[in-house]
Amino acid sequence: MELHARYGGVVPELASRQHLEAMVPVLDEALERAGCTLREIDAVAVTTGPGLAGALLVGANAAKAIAYARGLPLVAVNHLEGHVYAAWLADGPFGEEAPAPRFPALCLIVSGGHTDLVLMTGHGRYRRLGETADDAAGEAFDKVARLMGLGFPGGPAIERLADGIAPAPRLPRAKLRRPYDFSFSGLKTKVLRLVRGQEGPVPPLPELAAAFQDAVVDALVTKTLAAARDHAAAEVIMVGGVAANTALRRALTERSPLPVRIPRPALCTDNGAMIAACGWRRLRAGQAAPLDADVRPGLRIG
Ligand code: KG4
Ligand code: ZN
Repeated sequence: MELHARYGGVVPELASRQHLEAMVPVLDEALERAGCTLREIDAVAVTTGPGLAGALLVGANAAKAIAYARGLPLVAVNHLEGHVYAAWLADGPFGEEAPAPRFPALCLIVSGGHTDLVLMTGHGRYRRLGETADDAAGEAFDKVARLMGLGFPGGPAIERLADGIAPAPRLPRAKLRRPYDFSFSGLKTKVLRLVRGQEGPVPPLPELAAAFQDAVVDALVTKTLAAARDHAAAEVIMVGGVAANTALRRALTERSPLPVRIPRPALCTDNGAMIAACGWRRLRAGQAAPLDADVRPGLRIG
């Protein structure tokens, strides 16, 4: 984060170099914290997409090396599906002891690269109902934070600035032809014009940050709940980095007539536990990957 903050966002070449440097230390630390060694590991799950090709390659090759050297099965995991499985991670051991999913589940996957509304009808079964027409919600947080001169990542910076502040002015909600699609670039442009004083006196930044957050939260919650109602969902799931946002968590929980599952904040942003949880499911379903499995930077869900 510190390195990328200097450039205001993730720089692909730096990201893959950092992955390479961090791989062995992170692996060692994870094993140490888990109190086990590679000898006790039964399988290796790894993200093969979507994402930056360079970073994906570093992870996939490390995973293949471990799987090959120790004769373990390799499991290829879709990063977005990994986010979804964070919803059923209990604090204790996962698997049979985790809360059972209720299908169909309406999933909002909301991160730096994605804003997808997906109907999950069973394990590994997804139907994409909607997506963003332009920026992802997290990307909008990052861009708006940048034009307000706040740090990277933008989501937590905006959340801190907006904490306890009444939103003003009211910002427009995008109207789209497809009912479950999102659009955040118009909102970003509106904030830009306000910050540059092109629409009169510049509003105080905390109020503007609150207004921006309010508009994003409202769009996400309104469409998610409409999709859940229209598809007779049994529960609503919200995952991905932006799902760590307190205002969003509160609004979805308060407004939903259905049970809502949101991972605790540490499990919302990219993490290894979610990939392990999803990989474990895949493995049990007999879906190990060959050792020559490729990375898929443009992989989607549903
Ligand atoms: O899932 P994630 O860790 O990485 C991707 O797969 O993109 O999500 C990162 C995104 C960033 O855009 C970041 O600004 C946003 O999640 N984010 C937040 C918050 N924490 C992280 N957005 C709003 N409020 C937060 N508290
Ligand atoms: Zn992610």
